[in-house]
Amino acid sequence: MTMWDFPLFPRQASSIAPRVDRLYLVLVGVWLFFTLMICVLVLYFAIKYRRSSTADRTRAATHNLPLEVAWIAIPLMIALGLFVWGTNEFFLLYSPPGDASEVSVVAKQWMWYLQHPEGKREINELHVPLNRPIRLNMISQDVIHSFYVPDFRVKQDVLPGRYTSAWFEPTRVGRYHLFCAEYCGTNHSAMIGWITVMEPSDFQRWLDEGNVAATMATTGAQLFRQFGCSGCHSPNSTVRAPLLDGVYGRPVPLQSGDVVIADDRYIRDSIMMPKSQIVAGYEPVMPTFASQIKEDELLQIIAYIKSLGNDGRAAR
Ligand code: CUA
Repeated sequence: MTMWDFPLFPRQASSIAPRVDRLYLVLVGVWLFFTLMICVLVLYFAIKYRRSSTADRTRAATHNLPLEVAWIAIPLMIALGLFVWGTNEFFLLYSPPGDASEVSVVAKQWMWYLQHPEGKREINELHVPLNRPIRLNMISQDVIHSFYVPDFRVKQDVLPGRYTSAWFEPTRVGRYHLFCAEYCGTNHSAMIGWITVMEPSDFQRWLDEGNVAATMATTGAQLFRQFGCSGCHSPNSTVRAPLLDGVYGRPVPLQSGDVVIADDRYIRDSIMMPKSQIVAGYEPVMPTFASQIKEDELLQIIAYIKSLGNDGRAAR
């Protein structure tokens, strides 16, 4: 039995977990060391110099320069060291590897909707392959929620109107609890689920079983036509609208003179608040689709736009 079997402490089931724990244990160690040292010294001197004691009080020190320098310099070094270490881990937590596969997460009172790029959907369950980095692209349909998997040491707020992301690489096959860690209303405590980590071959089988759904990009292409986007954003339309082939991840010059990168956030804002960022050289004629398109549909449309290659054909 290792200390990780102690049920009050979550298991280490992701690549980041041992790193977070190491830092955490060192922080607790530093805290324990100084707390104990101060407590012991306070008690020791309180007893030694109690009023009735005959301890020698003749050479009372008023100051001691080396001691004062030491108690400033040593804690400063420890604090700065912990800061650099913590910052390093923080950056790691927020920089998903480039080859991470993406899972879309839509949170709502009081459920988690998840969709794999291959099309498979899940509710309050997420299946992932072992030892592969997974990036979550998350948004809320109503209030603030928080995606929390203690065994992975992953916790990230899920906000309405803005994508947030988190990533993890599972290192143990098993089932792990998913919690909502932000009070979001009556059934907040019931907004829970499970992450199932499977061997890659089992995961592939799971992905292929049942009625195979259309990929997110394919569904997105259908929505793109259904909502009439293709009526303007195509080469032979009468309305002049920017063509979207190969736009994803590229810089876009705006009327305001700014240049933005066409990422998920930019595309979402362009659909929901088209007047906020007018592309240079175009008229602000696009209507807003806020209140018409649901968050999961938006994610599918973005997946479609992402899949559009420079040759104008869907890459997948
Ligand atoms: Cu969702 Cu708490």
